[in-house]
This record gives sequence, structure tokens and C-alpha cells, in this order.
Amino acid sequence: MFGEYNDFVAVNVPAEGLPEKKKKNLWRWWNQLSRFQRNVFYMVISVLCFTTLYFSIGNIDNATVKSNKQKIVSPLSKENLENYVKDQENKLEEIEQPIPADFENYDKSSVLFKGPTTKRQQAVVQAFKHAWKGYKKFAWGHDHLKPISESYHDWFGLGLTIVDSLDTIYIMGLKEEFAEARNWVAEHLNLNQDRDVNLFETTIRVLGGLLSAYHLSGDSIFLDKAIDLGLRLLPSFKTESGIPFSDVNLATKLSHPPKWSPVSSTSEVATLQLEFTDLSRSSGDFIFEKTAAFVSEHIHTLTKKDGLVPIFINAFSGNFRSYSTITFGARGDSYYEYLVKQWIQTGKTVDYLKNDYLEAIEGMKKNLVRRTVPNGYLFVGELLGGGKEFKPKMDHLTCYLPGTLALGVHHGLPSDHMNLAYELLETCYQTYAQQPTFLAPEITYFNIQPTDQANDIYVKTPDAHNLLRPEFIESLWYMYQITKNTTYQDWGWQIFESFEKYTKVSNGYTSIGDVRNPENVKPRDMMESFFLSETIKYLYLLFSDDPKLIDIDRYVMNSEAHPLPIQS
Ligand SMILES: *[C@@H]1O[C@H](CO)[C@@H](O)[C@H](O)[C@H]1NC(C)=O
Repeated sequence: MFGEYNDFVAVNVPAEGLPEKKKKNLWRWWNQLSRFQRNVFYMVISVLCFTTLYFSIGNIDNATVKSNKQKIVSPLSKENLENYVKDQENKLEEIEQPIPADFENYDKSSVLFKGPTTKRQQAVVQAFKHAWKGYKKFAWGHDHLKPISESYHDWFGLGLTIVDSLDTIYIMGLKEEFAEARNWVAEHLNLNQDRDVNLFETTIRVLGGLLSAYHLSGDSIFLDKAIDLGLRLLPSFKTESGIPFSDVNLATKLSHPPKWSPVSSTSEVATLQLEFTDLSRSSGDFIFEKTAAFVSEHIHTLTKKDGLVPIFINAFSGNFRSYSTITFGARGDSYYEYLVKQWIQTGKTVDYLKNDYLEAIEGMKKNLVRRTVPNGYLFVGELLGGGKEFKPKMDHLTCYLPGTLALGVHHGLPSDHMNLAYELLETCYQTYAQQPTFLAPEITYFNIQPTDQANDIYVKTPDAHNLLRPEFIESLWYMYQITKNTTYQDWGWQIFESFEKYTKVSNGYTSIGDVRNPENVKPRDMMESFFLSETIKYLYLLFSDDPKLIDIDRYVMNSEAHPLPIQS
């Protein structure tokens, strides 16, 4: 996830104010200096300017802390902790008992998750096994497989690929693989990592992975690990505003903002709630749910542009960085996704979540939706500079949106969202179909000028890569479940075949650098954990002849495709 980040400070040098005579004297003095002396002077000035700039950038956000009159009370700040705990105890009585493992499903799971029932599902299982074999051989226990160099990549040191794959393996009915993955978690998953991890990524991949494995299998080892992890992540929220910092050390439990800036990404701080809520409901400890829900409640109170949010938020002040980009792509995307999914997860009882989501979709229609020239494909663009400039650009990440819109409609939201979903899905399909590899690039640009240019879509060289991302397949799965239109299965199959053709290598699957050139796709030597967690899982579910294999009336998928139970 790479967003844009612009900072600038204007330095105004006052030109007036000196009496005429003094100006002349200064000028004479200046002319008398040697070249060397002048250079020294220039250097001193540059250093001064640079230092001032450097410190003023760092302080902009601290300054807003002081001037911020809004009273923000985080559940974890020291003064409030006592009141908070009391409050918790009162509330505990109102809330139903924690849900143990999903035992009902566990009993049925040998029937439900009995393995592939269609030819296409069989092919997906073969793909999984191929990837798993490479991972086991060259990267076992590490975060990611590097299939070409036959090595591994460690990001957090949490065996990400194993934890992220647990439920995929379970759903595919692969008993042997599940046992080996489960035993690795039980015996080797070491959460006491003395290194910084990203709160958001660790939450959606590891916490989400452990919780869904727990719900599907009923094995309490996963819940124990999830609670341990949740307690290590919690210190991220100990900020003045209650908005978490992006990074936390799992061993020292110290948390801080990213090195490059004092701000957190809006989507990151708003994409923790499904997991923390489920952790509370599963463990009976409501601190997790309250702490994460507070973030949503706080964001709810902030001023937005027609329900749309800037992509950066300051964890000190709790305010948006007002001139940052507005997008349904990187750093904005899952804020919107989690509004509607939190509403579903909590039994459609929390109205502000639904209302904020509905307002955001209207805001999107008004500000971000355009059509391409000449063929009129609908897309969702971006607003730069706090809303000043429209950019006809869409991240592949945005292709989660048709599925989420359809999910909302399925749960009773306005049916006209479905028209948006159909059209946006078609555009996302075009981002694949118009490439000679039949694979979409990371970012697509759209032509909106009435010129004689023939192409609706174009791709810039730095954006031409494909990381094996899932979002479009995810949307196809929702749309197929909800409409039963088998065209969506066929589209998924076309893409699966392209993955087989262009990204499969002898030890797994790899991200590629160029979807525009079938002769040389520039393999990048990386298989991220989301390929097995999401892309493969959604393909398997999409090709099922049992549309309720994962029932969207009983489960809500987190942002990493981990199913968590809906509370009744
Ligand atoms: C299924 O979806 C495709 C692609 O959008 C569309 O062309 C077709 O008409 C749909 N079929 C039905 C039966 O709705």
C-alpha cells in the first residue's frame, strides 16, 4: 500500500521594512565580501533553512494537538482507565455471553468442508498444493516464499503464510496440511518478537487468521494465541487521541508512528474492528472491542467531505490531515469496507456505521464516479489536495468495492447500489481483459477527455505489476453468490488460467513486474501470504457448487478473507 505523501512549507522572506540607507550599506558590505565568504554565507543560510523546515514539519502536527479544543478521551489513557473498566463491567451484564467456538459448524464441518466438488475447484486445490510445497521446502516458518531464488522473506517473523492459510486449508478439506500448520502454530509461533510490526497488517493477517481458524475448527490453541497477540497489539492504542500508531513492538509493547511521519493511515486505523470485536466476543474480555470501536466512534465525529475521508489521520490530535488524498484505493479502501461489515457483524444494531457508509457511497457517486471515453466504463477516481483536483486513476485495491456494495444490498441496503456494483465490476474486468496477459496492473488510468484517443484504459510503467492480488476475485465471489450469474465464475476461471500461465513457477507462484508484455512478465520472486489466504480461497469458493460453503448470512469476511461469525 503506497499512498502519496506531500509536505511543503512556504518560507516568506519579508522584502520591506529596512530604511533606504541601511539597504545601501548592506549592499556595499555584501559586494565587498570575497567569493569564499559569500559561499560560506550561502551555506549557513541553507543549513538554517533546512533545519527550520525539518523541525517545522515535525511540529505541524504537535501544534494542532495544542490548539485542538475538542476533548478526546481514549479508553486506554491512564486517567480514564478506571472509569472505563467500571463502565465495562456494567456493560458486560448487558451483552450476551461470549460465543465459544462455532461448534455447530464444527460438527458439520466434515460434511461441509469435504474437499473440492467441481473440476475448477480441483484445479484450485492443485494450485494451492503446488504453492504450499514450495513454501514448505524453502520458506517453512517464515513470512513469505521467494519461489524463484528458492528462499524466504521475513517481514514480522510470524510465519505469515502459515497463519494466513489456516482457514483456506480447512475450507478445502486438506486434513494433513491443516494438522501440520496447526502444529506449527502450537509449537513454533513465537509472538514475543522484539521487532516492530504493522498493527493493521498483523491484525488482519495474524489475528484474523487465528480467529477464523478457531471458529472453523473449534481448536482452542488458536484462541489462546489470538488473545496473547491481542494483548501485545493493544498498546498501539495508548495515544492521546485513542487513534492507534501504525507500529508496535510485540515484545517490548512500545508503539510509535511510522518513521516518515507522525500520521497513521485512515484505512489502517479503521480496519481493526472486526477482529478486535470478535476477539472480545470469543474471549469474554471486552477491552479489545471497546478500544477498537472507540476509533470508529471517534472517526464518526470528524468532519468529512460528503462522508469521504482523507487518507491520513494524526494519532496525537485525532484529526484528519485535511489536504491529503481521498480515495477508495490504497489507505482509504477498507475504511468504507469495515463500516458496512462492522454493521453486519454486530447484528445491524449500530446505526451510525450504516449511515456513515450510506453517506460515503453517496459522496463517492457525487465526487469520485466518472465514465471513460469512448466506451463509458464507470470508475471510481481520486481527489487530490483535500478535494481540489480529480485524478482519473483506480488502484486494483478498489475492485473490492463491487463485492462490498453487493454484500450491503444483500443485507438490506438500497438496491440501486447494485447498479454501481455491476458497472464497476465490468470496469474491473476490463482492467484484466484489456491486458495481453489477461492480468490487471496494480493501478489503471482512464481516459476522460473527449479526444480521438481510442483507449479507455492506460497503464503507466511503474504501475504495470501484478502482486497476485485478490480484490477482483473477491468481488466476483460476492456477485456470484448474490446473483447466481455463472458469467462471474467464467471470468474467475479466465483469470485463474492467466495466473497459471504467467505467474506459476516451479516452486510456487510469483508476483510479476509487467502485465503488458506476455513475452516477458518480469517475475518478481515474491509470493505474499494473501495469495493463499485470499486469492486462492475466493477462487475455491467462487467455483463451488454450494453457494453457502461460507454463508454470508452467518459470516463476515475480514479484509484478509478470514470469515468471522456474525452476531445474532
Ligand atoms: C451475467 O453477467 C453478464 C456480465 O455482466 C451479463 O452480460 C449477462 O447478461 C448476465 N446474465 C444474466 C442472466 O443476467
